[in-house]
Amino acid sequence: MRFDVFTLLPDVFPPYLESSILQRARQRGLIDVRIHNIRDWATDRHHVTDDEPYGGGGGMVMKPEPVFAAVESLRASLDKRLGTMPEPVPSSSLPGLTARAGGAGCPVILLTPQGRVFNQKIALQLAAHPHLALICGRYEGMDERIREYLVTDEISIGDYVLTGGELPALVLIDAIARLLPGVLGDPDGAADDSHAAGLLEYPHYTRPPEFRGWRVPDILLSGDHAKIAKWRREQSLLRTLKRRPDLLKNALLSEADLTILNQIEKDKGDSQ
Ligand code: ADE
Repeated sequence: MRFDVFTLLPDVFPPYLESSILQRARQRGLIDVRIHNIRDWATDRHHVTDDEPYGGGGGMVMKPEPVFAAVESLRASLDKRLGTMPEPVPSSSLPGLTARAGGAGCPVILLTPQGRVFNQKIALQLAAHPHLALICGRYEGMDERIREYLVTDEISIGDYVLTGGELPALVLIDAIARLLPGVLGDPDGAADDSHAAGLLEYPHYTRPPEFRGWRVPDILLSGDHAKIAKWRREQSLLRTLKRRPDLLKNALLSEADLTILNQIEKDKGDSQ
């Protein structure tokens, strides 16, 4: 899978991409991450990429020209090879982001606190694309024409504001890459993740069986795989109920899960 990242801070990417799992995935050709410096497409003498906001107010705004030029140069090079980038559609003519993100081409995603909030489901959907373009915002904001006429999707990594879209872009790359076949050492590695089936993951333990007097639950040492699987499912449900009950309404739950949840609620009621 290929990622093209457009940023004003290209130097922040290599340290993370050259570490551990992502480095191995790149070396094995499972992911190809290309970092583009938006400043390279600023045509004036000083390579200026920001300007004052029309209408006044604090902060600077990212200029449209270099961002359009950067993404369009990628689009042109791909068109020559494959013809894969979708034509941008003005967002004002469409009902919402879902429609803008549609189409078989390469999504052009703006990382912004105003985007739809990233989660595991979105990571899975994006992992199905062979190619993503990610634009990292900086300054107080981007010229609105970038949103309207260049990007096909806008994603936030949470309801807080960072100084730019670089960390969010790395978050997306990391969450998506680990879902691709062969990236994690264990082929089932991503299947049990917290959020994979809409639940938080069960607790993990490793050796020693006792540490400072705290014992690993006996069941995990029993060797009874059916019982261990059942215990893990219960723990996963219990944890989700306690910490993130909001997740349960969208989780894939079996009859057995519902029985367990009812029992937990009943036990809670009895002990009150
Ligand atoms: N840029 C600044 N804050 C952000 C956030 N929370 N998500 C995505 N991009 C951002």
